[in-house]
Amino acid sequence: MTRIRVLNGPNLNLLGSREPGQYGERTLEDIMQELQEVAEACGLQLDHLQSNSEGALVDAVQQAARDGVDYLILNPAGYTHTSVALRDALLAVGIPFVEVHLSAVSAREPFRQVSYFADIALGVISGFRGESYLLALQAIINRIEP
Ligand code: DQA
Repeated sequence: MTRIRVLNGPNLNLLGSREPGQYGERTLEDIMQELQEVAEACGLQLDHLQSNSEGALVDAVQQAARDGVDYLILNPAGYTHTSVALRDALLAVGIPFVEVHLSAVSAREPFRQVSYFADIALGVISGFRGESYLLALQAIINRIEP
């Protein structure tokens, strides 16, 4: 069975109350539950992890390789624009991943338009609020069953 893991970076635990104009009104739990239901209905195994810590996210990428995860859906949040360490972890394990953002990062501040992940991701989905995760899952499903 195809295994998918969703990794969410710093401050995404605050979704629902955090800048709803940018990130929507749904909580992370709510978005992840819907994603899990869709994955299950498609016969996929999906789990998720959120951390505010860069080191914990690096550990999670390494753990995903040990767990035999086939695809990652990654929202590095603020680390999108800074983290060489997380990029290196993804290059080291070679797990294909989709980069996801709730907000339209390309329409925001210039520093958000730099991603340390976009060039090594399968693709980037940005700007659809919680739906961005569903679109990423759909892109992975399309790759599994073209
Ligand atoms: C974000 C965009 C980032 O620029 C920001 O730092 C986040 C969330 C998004 O999902 O839109 O924390 O990754």
